[in-house]
Amino acid sequence: MNARFPDWNIHVGAPHPFNAEAPLIDNGTARPTPVRYFDRSFMEAEWEQMWTKTWLLAGPASDLRDAGDFIRFDIATESFIVARTENGRLKAHYNVCPHRGSQLVLGDFGSADEFVCPFHNWRFALDGASTGVTDRQTFDPKVLCHDHNLTPVRCEEVAGLVFITMNDAAPPVREWLGPVADQLALYDIGSMNVIQHKQSDWAANWKGGVDAFYEIYHLHAVHPQTQGVMDDRTQIDLYPNGMSRQFVPFAQPSPRFPDQESVNPGIQMMLADAGINPATFAGTAQDSRAAIQQAKRVRAKAHGLDYDRFSDTQLSDSTIYGVFPNVQIGCHPEAVFLHRFLPHPDDPNQFTYDTCILFKHLDAPGYGPPAWMGLAPGTDTTGLTRPEIVRVPLGQPPELGEVLDQDSELLPVVQKGSRSRGFRGPLWSEQEARLRHFHTELDRYLEGGPHVQSRQDAKA
Ligand SMILES: [Fe+2]
Repeated sequence: MNARFPDWNIHVGAPHPFNAEAPLIDNGTARPTPVRYFDRSFMEAEWEQMWTKTWLLAGPASDLRDAGDFIRFDIATESFIVARTENGRLKAHYNVCPHRGSQLVLGDFGSADEFVCPFHNWRFALDGASTGVTDRQTFDPKVLCHDHNLTPVRCEEVAGLVFITMNDAAPPVREWLGPVADQLALYDIGSMNVIQHKQSDWAANWKGGVDAFYEIYHLHAVHPQTQGVMDDRTQIDLYPNGMSRQFVPFAQPSPRFPDQESVNPGIQMMLADAGINPATFAGTAQDSRAAIQQAKRVRAKAHGLDYDRFSDTQLSDSTIYGVFPNVQIGCHPEAVFLHRFLPHPDDPNQFTYDTCILFKHLDAPGYGPPAWMGLAPGTDTTGLTRPEIVRVPLGQPPELGEVLDQDSELLPVVQKGSRSRGFRGPLWSEQEARLRHFHTELDRYLEGGPHVQSRQDAKA
């Protein structure tokens, strides 16, 4: 897709339909003003024009498998409950009691027969219907003629992920996701379980977080330790509605890295992930990526896993999706790394970085989520228990592993600089094409956007 700069387009492997490049989307060459990173009125416009109009990833479907399962999903000033009802359908509501406005659900997730307001014990079914008003006889019937069910929002599940929207006019989520929906479905995320979930507060705008994770141009500067194991020439694909994809070749040194032959410790780690003993591996660094692809196919056959649906690239590399507005999903056949960049309710200079590792247990020696995901040692990977969310407040290192901790140190530095009168806005390279695509889509919303169409208009 990078027609202007083909040198930065790596051939991602043998031709395979999955790897097919998306048609070019030209997002121009404009330089946006930096107010988007710190201005309160910009933050408010984002809320009114974008967050309340787009689809939002509320959580993985694995948290909502059984009737009664529920999650709380908070975004900026809002909070939602998503629940699996007795008939197996998903329902989502504002997490607010219609009586006096108290929040109903205070925990992150769980299982329940009903929701009970902590203020006066009003009761609600999983589908949001009012089932009990305490001392009903003390209300004038004309008061309770007003709707006192929970206020619903739309909720749809695609590819093992649950989305909500506050916008009745939004298209169906599958249509909105476009080609990304079917590509994500290949990973069968619905059968994986959350084995690690962390949230940390960072002193930067949420878009600073998206920006940093939507490009790998900064690896050589911020994460030089990755240069021996990741090629930073990547294929980038842009899709409609702000979606994007990027292949990051793993187990292959960057051309910036001086030693192209030695099987360095990082590559050894990736070989081990594929079940190859690094001590007996006879190849060089140039052979390791293909060896990993082969070894994973052999291992999959032995364990009855269907890897025929994956291209070679998907086996060895990180296949990364950007889901507008605030999601990045790193996909591997074994595990999926879900990142969400959650805006702060009041402060444009803060966001919460939410990460989940999803994994489907397989009883095979050495089989696990890729080591680079930084799963804490001793973590239960069976999926039998859903771990609690670990929260790290502002100012403390998030302890997400060396690479992500480096990002958490840098982003506040970028945020400070972006507020300078001397900064005139970002200048994006083709390596940062996903950033331009994301900001262009955001601007579409702010300018009146795709959401003003009714669903009928959108289909016409
Ligand atoms: Fe980074």
